[in-house]
Amino acid sequence: MITVFGSINMDLIATTERLPKPGETVAGTGFSTAAGGKGANQALAARRGGSSVRMAGAVGNDGFAEPALALLKEAGADLSSVKRVAEPTGTALILVGGDGENMIAVVPGANGTVTAGDAAAAIGALAPRDIVMLQLEIPAKSVEEALAAAKLKGIATILNLAPLIPDAPRLGRLADIVIANETEFERLAGQDGMTNDDREAALRRLHAETKQTLIVTLGGDGVIAIRDNVISRACGLVIEPVDTVGAGDTFCGYFAASLDQGLDFETALRRAAVAGSLACLKAGAQPSIPLASEVALHI
Ligand code: RIB
Repeated sequence: MITVFGSINMDLIATTERLPKPGETVAGTGFSTAAGGKGANQALAARRGGSSVRMAGAVGNDGFAEPALALLKEAGADLSSVKRVAEPTGTALILVGGDGENMIAVVPGANGTVTAGDAAAAIGALAPRDIVMLQLEIPAKSVEEALAAAKLKGIATILNLAPLIPDAPRLGRLADIVIANETEFERLAGQDGMTNDDREAALRRLHAETKQTLIVTLGGDGVIAIRDNVISRACGLVIEPVDTVGAGDTFCGYFAASLDQGLDFETALRRAAVAGSLACLKAGAQPSIPLASEVALHI
């Protein structure tokens, strides 16, 4: 069983031929809404990846709450630890350019009401072989409490270091497994502008210090990781991205599901990388997360 303790959003998505510069207005080519939020996206990816999933977090009592949870509900995720609060459901305002790149502004709303007490309750309900997965779109204090409570119970923790917040480097030391993109990893390692060699050296140095499993996603270049002193690499698929929103979340969810299902580390990385590539081929964070059967065709 995987418990995802994190954010739930409604994504409001405009497509444009190119992304605007600061202060510039560009014409939109389309508008849609889709369920999103890094926590909810990762929970759905883990569920579509074949694991039992519990989502813990918060939504409002507004019109966005049900659509934000609809795909998780349809997939059979346990939503009993999602609380309803007086704040509006979290929203993300997303622009997707013609090359698939994006800009996102997140308004936390209900996600900001997730407390350290909610963390203690979510972790208290877990069994020893469970996995808990977190991101940084809920208050840092609640993430810290969840990581501490899980450690006390000996429950494996996966922390996705996104989005980059000031507490990210400190929180990144507290999880068993950390998943970061290149920028997030540079902040964790305290070094900007890393070359490939720098990154590998930093992985070895941090791993020697902390013994953590560290995974760095590299977009179209796949992923590099270190576990038990061994560096591993995996690649995704060669694709023309349509929309990369949620690709990182898909990687995280599939990776957690693969570990939960007892797959070896290298296979888990490859399966997650392939799932992340497939998520770039359709619009919308949650609608684009592939089913396990689709991922299996490419492994
Ligand atoms: O990682 C993608 C997600 O980031 C979107 O679904 C959006 O809600 C923001 O949280």
